[in-house]
Amino acid sequence: MAGGQGTRLGSSDPKGCFNIGLPSNKSLFQIQAERIRRIQTLASKKVDGKKVVVPWYVMTSGPTRGPTEKYFRDNNYFGLEKENVMIFEQGVLPCISNDGKILLESKGKVAVAPDGNGGLYQALVEFNVLEDMRSRGIQHIHAYCVDNCLVKVADPVFIGFSASKDVDIATKVVRKRDATEPVGLILQKDGKPDVVEYSEIDKETAEAKDPNHPDVLKFRAANIVNHYYSFRYLQTSKDFSKKLPHHIAKKKIPYVNTENGETIKPETPNGIKLEQFVFDVFPQMPLEKFACMEVKREDEFSPLKNARGKGVDDPDTSRRDIMQQGKRWVQAAGATVGSDSDGVEVSPLYSYGGEGLEALAGQTVTTVVQLEK
Ligand code: UTP
Repeated sequence: MAGGQGTRLGSSDPKGCFNIGLPSNKSLFQIQAERIRRIQTLASKKVDGKKVVVPWYVMTSGPTRGPTEKYFRDNNYFGLEKENVMIFEQGVLPCISNDGKILLESKGKVAVAPDGNGGLYQALVEFNVLEDMRSRGIQHIHAYCVDNCLVKVADPVFIGFSASKDVDIATKVVRKRDATEPVGLILQKDGKPDVVEYSEIDKETAEAKDPNHPDVLKFRAANIVNHYYSFRYLQTSKDFSKKLPHHIAKKKIPYVNTENGETIKPETPNGIKLEQFVFDVFPQMPLEKFACMEVKREDEFSPLKNARGKGVDDPDTSRRDIMQQGKRWVQAAGATVGSDSDGVEVSPLYSYGGEGLEALAGQTVTTVVQLEK
C-alpha cells in the first residue's frame, strides 16, 4: 500500500522513494525490493535451486503513480524482474469543505484525494490484479504499508502460520507499550474480529489487565496494518469493496477561489477527505477464519510518518531501528560491536532476518558498517 500522500512527512516524492539516511542511502522501496530478492533466493535453495518468484503488487494513487513508476524504471526495478513488479492505482473520492460543499481544485475540476488504503479491494478488481494473481496460481498474499522500514516482506513465518491455520485473514500485531499509547487495537467485538481506535475506548478499559496474565494489558494487540490474505478470500473483493464505511479525516485541502481563479492553500484544516480503511473488512470474518500473530516491535515495526525532528516515527527513528536491528543480528552471530557505533546496516541482499552472518563470528565491528553482498 503506497498510495498515501504522506502529508505529515512533507516530501514531494512518494513515501516509498524516501531516503531514511542509512549509510547506503537506500529508499524504503529499495529495502523492500531487496528483501524480496533475498527471500526468493532463500526459497530457491529449498527447492533445489529452482527459480522462485515472489511477485510484488504496488498500490499507488493518482498523485503517487507516475513518480513511483518512473522511480522503479530509473532504478531498474532494484534488480527484480520488471514483469514481476505490478504498479496499479487506487481510486479517489471528492474532498468536502467543512460546510459540506464539494471543493474545487480549479474552476473545472473537483478536488479529489485517494480513497484510503481500503481502496485496495476495489483497485485489485479494477486493475485486474486478481486476474494476474489467478493466472500465476497465487494462494497466499502478504499486504503491508510502504512506510514500515522493518517490514518482513512476504514473511515465510507469517504466511506459513496463516496457511497452516487455514484462515482467510491474519494480522500481525505488536504489544501496546502502555495504556496511554495512541494506537488502534485488534480485539474481539460482538463475537467478531475488529479494530477499535484508541479514541473509542475509555481509560478504565485501556488500563484493564489481562486476568490470565495480570502483568500485561487486557487489550494489548496494537494494529500495525500488516496482513495475510488467502486468495480464496481476496478474489471475492468485488462483493464487499463498495460496502466498506468511509472515515473522515480533517485536512488542509487546497482549493480555488471561484471568483478570481486563485488557488488557496489553507493553513488550518478547511475540509474533509473520505477514507476507507483496509482493516474494516475484519468484522466480516468469522473468528475461525481470522488469526493474529504478535511480533516484536523492535524487529518488525517502525513506521515513517513524520518529518525529521519530530523524534517519533520520523526518518531518524527509521534509520535508528534498522541500524539497531543490524547490530543485534551481528552480535547474535558472535561479533562484537564497538561502543562508538550507532549500529550496523546489514543489506537485505545479505540477510533477510539475521541469517547467514556466521562469518562475522569473533570479528569486531567498530564503526557504522554496511554489509553488502
Ligand atoms: P497513512 O494513513 O499513514 O497516510 O497511511 P500517509 O499518506 O502515509 O500519511 P499522511 O497521513 O498523509 O501523513 C498508511 C499506509 O496506507 C497507505 C500509505 O501509503 C501508507 O503505506 N495509504 C494511505 C494508501 O495506500 N492509500 C491511501 O489512500 C492512504
